Amino acid sequence: MEAVMGRRIHLLPVLCLAASALMASMGAAAGEEAVPTAQELRRGFSVSHDQSYSQFQPVLADPTGVFALGFLRVNSTMLDLAVLHLPSAFPLWRAILDRPTPWSAAASLSFDGGLALTDRAANEVLWSASASGDRAVLLNTSNLQIQSGSSADAVVVWQSFDHPSETIVQGQNFTSAAALHTVDRRFAMRLGSNYFALYVEPPPGAAAAMYFKHTALQAKAQIVAGGGPTYARVEPDGFLAMYQKEGPPADVLSFDTFNRGVRALRRMTLETDGNLRAYYWDANATRWALDYTAITDPCELPTTCGAYSVCAQPSGRCACVANATDGSGCAAASGGGLCGTTGGEVGGLYQAVRRQGVEPVNKELLVFEHAASATECEERCERNCSCWGAVYSDGAGYCYLMDYPAQLLVEGDERKTGYFKVRSVEEEAEGGGGGGRRASRVKAALLAIGISAVVAAAAFGAYRVWERRRTTSADARRQIMGAADDGLSPGPYKNLGSFSSVELTNSFRR
Ligand SMILES: *[C@@H]1O[C@H](CO)[C@@H](O)[C@H](O)[C@H]1NC(C)=O
Ligand SMILES: *[C@@H]1O[C@H](CO)[C@@H](O)[C@H](O)[C@H]1NC(C)=O
Ligand SMILES: *[C@@H]1O[C@H](CO)[C@@H](O)[C@H](O)[C@H]1NC(C)=O
Ligand SMILES: *[C@@H]1O[C@H](CO)[C@@H](O)[C@H](O)[C@H]1NC(C)=O
Repeated sequence: MEAVMGRRIHLLPVLCLAASALMASMGAAAGEEAVPTAQELRRGFSVSHDQSYSQFQPVLADPTGVFALGFLRVNSTMLDLAVLHLPSAFPLWRAILDRPTPWSAAASLSFDGGLALTDRAANEVLWSASASGDRAVLLNTSNLQIQSGSSADAVVVWQSFDHPSETIVQGQNFTSAAALHTVDRRFAMRLGSNYFALYVEPPPGAAAAMYFKHTALQAKAQIVAGGGPTYARVEPDGFLAMYQKEGPPADVLSFDTFNRGVRALRRMTLETDGNLRAYYWDANATRWALDYTAITDPCELPTTCGAYSVCAQPSGRCACVANATDGSGCAAASGGGLCGTTGGEVGGLYQAVRRQGVEPVNKELLVFEHAASATECEERCERNCSCWGAVYSDGAGYCYLMDYPAQLLVEGDERKTGYFKVRSVEEEAEGGGGGGRRASRVKAALLAIGISAVVAAAAFGAYRVWERRRTTSADARRQIMGAADDGLSPGPYKNLGSFSSVELTNSFRR
């Protein structure tokens, strides 16, 4: 929420600029030499980046004047190519240049069958959409298309909808061929065979940590093996649907305004805090109204505490499992893998840290094995160089294995024993005052997230009650088993071998 407001405030001038540019294109502004915003780019088109625009230089407009493709200034100093929703100045699509480029770069955008953004001074292509089309157009859905053939019988050869950045808009198919990434590329959303999930993108030598998973409930249509890939789409009635083919969806993930007749532009965005949220454009209030929040417990968000840290529920307070050597907070999850070139363990690459009373908050998403003792569990991780940590649950005899540096840990009961590998031997630091300051900054940011999460959770509650009523008694039984903590987890979730285990994960999570 804070981020959205921030954007609106500092992008306010863009609105005026973009609006005046559009007016100029309609011949409304007199005497200005502003280049009219094109409705179509033809072969041979080229436009230079003009720094006199303070935030956004529109190049191509859609027929309704709501969206424009142009040069966007990001983080006050950098340049990107983007499709903006002009009333909010929100970038619905960003090209994400091959290398970070300053706003002052002598860039130009050209169309020669494909689109290319080049740095003229460095004679370097910064981004390109390779295609051999006849024109580039921006549709009234915000989809940037390169088309070939006559306008009446156009063939789409490239479209921005197939290359999302951090947002999908209403009507956009999200497939397993694409992924949403936060702009800093720390987090990703991907589609699996019958689910979508959020991941912490791994440092080199580790695996991605899944921290949220939504599996298709198959309420209306079956997802069949070999029946083609699934795809997800934000629908006008206020939900994210999962399909294998057009028709009734296999899954409906409802937003707050589900079936309430709210007809407005909707979007779903993977935000920098790692959370996935949906909004609709409230034209009267001229703001994006929050409609869905994937994660409402701060401890389930990877940005709340970070690596080698334990989160206290429900406060979201963080405490280090391992401190950084320089006293700047908890140890970092960086520094490459633990496996040597021969595949074996490289001695001295890590230090082992043990901690009582911790457990993974995402344990339903982790691989687990049965083990007779904490020692046995620990040894399995110790002798496997792909393993970064193990948590043993004494009550159930489960050994949860992590193939990424320890994170997403919460306080558990004393029967849970954690064993974690910390790379590059971080010694305990004296006087971690810096760590405390960092933690309080994290907490302040969290408070903002927390408030919006609480609001969303309250609003979402009503639907959940309805949704829960629909669960079968078998699901309800499993839910009760799940509630009894370690009674859950009948199989390794990563393999998705059995569908009932997948459903169980799902019912437990709601
Ligand atoms: C968008 O364009 C399609 C045809 O291309 C049209 O049917 C639809 O009504 C348009 N929507 C808006 C909001 O202009
Ligand atoms: C989304 O996928 C469906 C089914 O493949 C297809 O009919 C439709 O044209 C796609 N929409 C877009 C915008 O690509
Ligand atoms: C080592 O750990 C990784 C990640 O947890 C796992 O995929 C792999 O199967 C393990 N290898 C052995 C030999 O146990
Ligand atoms: C980390 O540093 C803090 C502050 O100095 C200290 O209180 C805490 O015990 C340390 N934690 C670990 C796991 O070493």
